[in-house]
Amino acid sequence: MDKRNETKSTMELVNIPPIVSTYRHALHTFDDRFKNDLSVNLNKLKFMMDSLKSADLGFDKTVKMLVWNKPNKAPCTYIEVFQNTSINMSIFVLRPGFKMPLHDHPHMHGLLKVISGAVHITSYTEYPVKELMKAVDAATRAKIEAKRLAQGQHKRRKLFAEITTSKLCRDTTSTCILTPTVSNYHEIQALDTPAAFFDILSPPYDTLLQGIGPRRCRYYRVINEISTNLVEMEETDVPECFFCDQAPYLGPQLA
Ligand SMILES: [Fe+2]
Repeated sequence: MDKRNETKSTMELVNIPPIVSTYRHALHTFDDRFKNDLSVNLNKLKFMMDSLKSADLGFDKTVKMLVWNKPNKAPCTYIEVFQNTSINMSIFVLRPGFKMPLHDHPHMHGLLKVISGAVHITSYTEYPVKELMKAVDAATRAKIEAKRLAQGQHKRRKLFAEITTSKLCRDTTSTCILTPTVSNYHEIQALDTPAAFFDILSPPYDTLLQGIGPRRCRYYRVINEISTNLVEMEETDVPECFFCDQAPYLGPQLA
């Protein structure tokens, strides 16, 4: 590479918006060809997201379009940043005080970074904790799940879960991570101002889960507090209070 091209290439690197480099690294992290490096890449992705600010996502422009006190305004606004079959990148904006109900992320990884306001996040890990899920475990689970669905038991699933996080998160708080087995269940409540968080999920909801069907988001309610950090939860219908409208992504172009 001659000197002039080298300089140009360096300039391009310097000028890449943080959300673009995050998007590129997210695609790399969840690319099956690099699955042996998932843990290292996931940590790097978390590190990159830690420094993301609302302005990096154009959210400062979007937020001006959101009017919370108009009649019938949804309590949650969804902003799709990017989606393909491997990853979903989005922003959720919550009305002051609104709690996104307890839900799961079946066989998914997720990273969540607050970019505006403050939320209280409570996350749960199915008990007993399974740190690693081998491929055979996934296949066995898929069979059990398929059998349960075939028997019409797609609702009222019950499980024990341990509280793994219960904390206040602001835009200065580092990125929260969930995996298929750790902190996979969470509820997120905005405090007294609107709050927004940026989310990367892989694979996205509704992608096909082998032997089961589309990867659905399931909702739960705590039915029994067994000890200070252990609960029993039961699957429930989507709470009626939870619905979203949409707003456009106004940040840097990604592709
Ligand atoms: Fe979630």
